[in-house]
Amino acid sequence: MKYRELVITEDGSASIYIPALKEHYHSHFGAKQESQHIFINSALAQVSKESITILEYGFGTGLNALMTYDYAKANNKTIHYYGLEKYPLEEKEYSALNYDANSTVFIALHQLEWEIEAKIDTHFYLKKIQIDFREFSIRPLFFDIVYFDAFAPDIQPHLWTNALFENIYASMKPGGVFITYTVKGIVRRLLKKVGFKVEKIAGPPGKREITRAWKE
Ligand SMILES: C[S@@+](CC[C@H](N)C(=O)[O-])C[C@H]1O[C@@H](n2cnc3c(N)ncnc32)[C@H](O)[C@@H]1O
Repeated sequence: MKYRELVITEDGSASIYIPALKEHYHSHFGAKQESQHIFINSALAQVSKESITILEYGFGTGLNALMTYDYAKANNKTIHYYGLEKYPLEEKEYSALNYDANSTVFIALHQLEWEIEAKIDTHFYLKKIQIDFREFSIRPLFFDIVYFDAFAPDIQPHLWTNALFENIYASMKPGGVFITYTVKGIVRRLLKKVGFKVEKIAGPPGKREITRAWKE
């Protein structure tokens, strides 16, 4: 993977920046704030089931997984979390992230073996899969929630395609929710085309709107 730098965002939480792509892993207004608003409040908190299966495109720093774990514990849920990632962070990179300095859980999320589902505790099971998003073979009707956190469509247009979104749609259960941070027209059109009911909702600070899509 290309050279990556640690950065501190405006809410004080760390993120990663890739100079060659001019892309951040999170909003520079606040990584934690963004994760909480988009993935936790706008998707996870909308699903009322006790047991929830989540697929994340772009495990990256593990921040969304950590916030999801915290939510599961606080709300007495059982979550099965699948994180796809082609370019895992190295130990020196994830050790420098300041999400939860005392958290053995955060380090465990990174150090767990890939390709095997591991039990963190009764609230959270994690399977990290090192793979290109386009090669992940889906299980039909399996996921309740998809966190789509790839780099932006203008940076990685090959990851925002009809074929990929068709697969995602097929992998989700009816009532499932797909969430992503962009409201680009091309993304919303693709989501509609593959069958989702698409809505624009309020975004976190620095981003007026985000996209949420439902499989009916
Ligand atoms: C916006 S960042 C994800 C941020 C992450 N959710 C977090 O909380 O840190 C996009 C992620 O997609 C990964 N990625 C980029 N291209 C990929 C590909 N073709 N297949 C799988 N992962 C890819 C990057 O390595 C990066 O971790």
